[in-house]
Parts: sequence; structure tokens; C-alpha cells
Amino acid sequence: MAKQLFIKTYGCQMNVYDSTRMADTLAPLGYAVTDRLEDADLVILNTCHIREKASEKVFSELGRLRRLKQAKAARGAPMLIGVAGCVAQAEGEEIVRRAPQVDLVFGPQTYHRLPEMVRRALGPEAGRPVLDTEFPTESKFDHLPEEASPQGAAGFLSIQEGCDKFCTFCVVPYTRGAEFSRPAAEIVAEAERMVSAGTIEITLLGQNVNAYHGEAGGAATWGLGRLIRRLARIDGLRRLRYTTSHPADMDAELIEAHGDVAELMPYLHLPVQSGSDRILRAMNRRHGAADYLDIVARLRRARPDLALSSDFIVGFPGETDQDFAQTLRLVTEVGYAQAYSFKYSPRPGTPAADQPDQVPEAVKDERLAMLQTLLNEQQTAFNRASVGRVVEVLFERAGRGAGQLVGRSPHMQAVHAAAPSALLGRLVPVEIEAGHANSLAGRVVEARAPGPAGGIPVGAATAGAGR
Ligand code: SAH
Ligand code: SF4
Ligand code: F3S
Repeated sequence: MAKQLFIKTYGCQMNVYDSTRMADTLAPLGYAVTDRLEDADLVILNTCHIREKASEKVFSELGRLRRLKQAKAARGAPMLIGVAGCVAQAEGEEIVRRAPQVDLVFGPQTYHRLPEMVRRALGPEAGRPVLDTEFPTESKFDHLPEEASPQGAAGFLSIQEGCDKFCTFCVVPYTRGAEFSRPAAEIVAEAERMVSAGTIEITLLGQNVNAYHGEAGGAATWGLGRLIRRLARIDGLRRLRYTTSHPADMDAELIEAHGDVAELMPYLHLPVQSGSDRILRAMNRRHGAADYLDIVARLRRARPDLALSSDFIVGFPGETDQDFAQTLRLVTEVGYAQAYSFKYSPRPGTPAADQPDQVPEAVKDERLAMLQTLLNEQQTAFNRASVGRVVEVLFERAGRGAGQLVGRSPHMQAVHAAAPSALLGRLVPVEIEAGHANSLAGRVVEARAPGPAGGIPVGAATAGAGR
């Protein structure tokens, strides 16, 4: 009988992608993915270290798993526990010390060695934790097997890893390691396999995805704009997105791609963190507020209907009321369709954590509430503006209501509509009838004459296309 693998994923989309790839490495050992924790022979927590709350979750989850492991052992059903991802990378030794129930600890760049680690954990040395958190010289991508199971209509593809930017608040350069781009041909091949398996929307991933500079044969390297142009030519691939990008790496070629690659969706997550030049400098963001606004203006000239999203940090050390007011001003000026905002969380080992001028928690709370009020207003206004329009929705899953499906608009809005399950995995025109804070509701429009803008279900491009 197949062994059961349960993976719980925290953090960013890169972790989501890594979790699917971990499952791929274990498939040859007979592990099948389950969503029932009690059935698991192997549980992996794929963790996130970005803020304190995120990493704390891991230790409380490990407490629960210890009890489950004991209960299962008493029933003669052994269970292995693995901790992966960014907490494993940053605190591997501590996990081993604090959580003896853990069998495997491995980082984001070593999970291609999982089969070997699992064999060791089940072998004669069982009970001794296996720790593998180095940054190997080899690339995991050269050792991962091909994808074992399809990701569905919308899928992720990591094209770039790690980060060399060293923003003073951020752990990512330490947990993910140095920046590295996968060769273009390897990415094209993976995208083609994804499309053959039924994926019609691909989100290209990287901690700094627009720093992409992959080998492309001979001495040539491609930037992200060039790569997007190539991927857009894949037959059956209907939508492309990328995340997360850094303003300093937004080059002319990429901006141009927004103007003339129809498959590249008109939505961009472009984190700015703060609207204050003083704070941006202290964060080591490598650009000022005016540079950001200039990039946004250039993007909008290329693609007038581009919707923007961002990340914000409030209460970075030394942030004054004036600095914060500049953040609010920038938000007002840009007008966001969506955004994520966080209170600054001091992370061990990062420069900003040691700054003396930490902002009191109460001030952070107040600023966060103000910023979120403004961002929520903008998001609601953006969603309301969709009412009455027909938008193309890629239906990805069943909705909460009976007979309902949920999908994404080109602008990343979640759209609910009554629709038969036959429309899952297809691009369907939906007339928007209501715009809420976090989603839209609409009704499926009957097939119209095909036009250049599409709007017609594209069953031929989905699974079963027989390619
Ligand atoms: N590479 C991306 C961000 C990755 S982390 C970029 O450069 O924009 C995702 C988000 O988490 C960041 O954009 C930032 O807003 C937030 N974040 C990172 N470190 C944080 C910290 N120490 N405290 C609070 N938020 C943080
Ligand atoms: Fe972190 Fe900055 Fe790198 Fe983004 S660019 S991952 S915020 S160090
Ligand atoms: Fe978290 Fe690591 Fe992603 S710290 S945000 S899982 S890169």
C-alpha cells in the first residue's frame, strides 16, 4: 500500500511550489499525498521565518504533532516528522534540540535529497534526527524528478531563488541563500510540461523574480521580460503572472512586455514597503519614493489597466509620524487594487533588529489600522468599479455555495459565480454583478462570438487536450 505524505505549507508561494516538488521527490519511494493528517506516515511542515508570529507557529504545531506521533506509535503506526523551509534553515539546530520528536530537518535548497534523508530516518539509525541545512553547490533543480502530479488550471513555477538585496529587516537572504536563476531552457521545458498536464495560467516565482538573469544558450542571458515573451508563445498557455518583484529590478524590457504580451496579466505585485525616503534608505531598498512613482507611471503608460499591489511595513525602527504620513500619501497617489501590510517584526540576525530606536507596539498598531483602512477603501473601490463589466475568469475550484465556482479575474480578484463543474479549469466570461471588499460575484455569460479578446471557454487548452 502506498505510504501517506501530509505536507503543511506556511509562508509565500515559493514554499507552495517547494511543497509540490517535495512530494515529487517522494513519489518514487511510494509516498502519495494525503490531506488527512491522522493517516500520515510522514508529516512535513514547510515553514516560514519572515515574521516572529510565522516562526512561532511551527513550535506550537510541533507540540500537537508530538502527541499524534505518540498516539500513533502506541497503535503500532509509526510516523516521521520533518521540518522544512525557512525556519528549518534559520533554526535547524534549535529545532533538533527543542523538539526531539522531529526526525528530519532540511532547508529550501536541500530537499532534493529527501529520499536519502527518509531512508536514513527509517534505517538502522532511526530515532537520530537527520539535519541537512547547508547551501549545497549543486542546484536542487538539477536533481529533482519531473513533476509527478499536475498543479491544476493555475500553477506556480519557480524560476529564481534567493536574494542578494539584504533589506535590513529581512531574513530571506539568510534563509534562501544567494540569488540564483534557472536556465531559460529548463524553465520553458517545465512550463511546457505543466501546460500539457492542464495548466493554463502560470505564475513565475522568485524572492526577487525580476532579478532573473538566466542562461539562454552560449553567452546569452535572458531577463524576465525576454523569458516572458518566450513562455507566452507556448501553445495553450493563456495567462502569465510573476511575483515577487523588486522596484529596483523593473527594467525597460519588462515594462515593455506589460504593454505588448497579451498573456501577461494586468496585475503586478510591486512592494514598496514605505513612502518615506529616509526609511527606504534605512531599509536598504535601493530606491526612493519618487523612483517608485516613476516606475508605476511607466508601467501604466505601457498598460493603462494595470492593477497594482504592494507590501508595506509600518513601525520600522526610527519611523516618525511624518515618515508614516508619507506612506499614506504614496498609497493615495498610486491607488492600489490590493495590498499586504505588516507591523515591523525584529528578526534575529538582521541589522534593523539591533537598531535602538524601535517603535512602540501601540504606535505600530495605530499606524497599521490607519494604513489598512485606507488600503481597504481602495480595494473596495477597485472591486466596485468592476460591477457591470464582463471579465474573463479562470475557474479553479468549487465555491462555498452549492453549484458555485470560484476563480480569478485578470486583475487577481476572486470571482464567485453559479457555474457547472464542467467549467473548472476553463476561462469563462463572467458579468460582474457585485463588488465586495475581498471578492466579486457575477454570472456566467453565454458563449459569444469568438473575438481577439477571447472570452470563450477554452476547453481545448485544458486537460484532455491530448498533447
Ligand atoms: N522579496 C520581496 C518580499 C519578500 S518578504 C520584496 O522584496 O518585496 C514579503 C514581505 O514581508 C515583504 O515585502 C515585507 O513587507 C514583509 N516583511 C519582511 N520582513 C519583515 C519583517 N521583519 N517585519 C515585518 N514585515 C516583514
Ligand atoms: Fe527580503 Fe529585500 Fe530580498 Fe525582498 S528584496 S527578499 S524584502 S531582502
Ligand atoms: Fe517565508 Fe521563506 Fe517565503 S521566510 S516568505 S517562506 S522565502
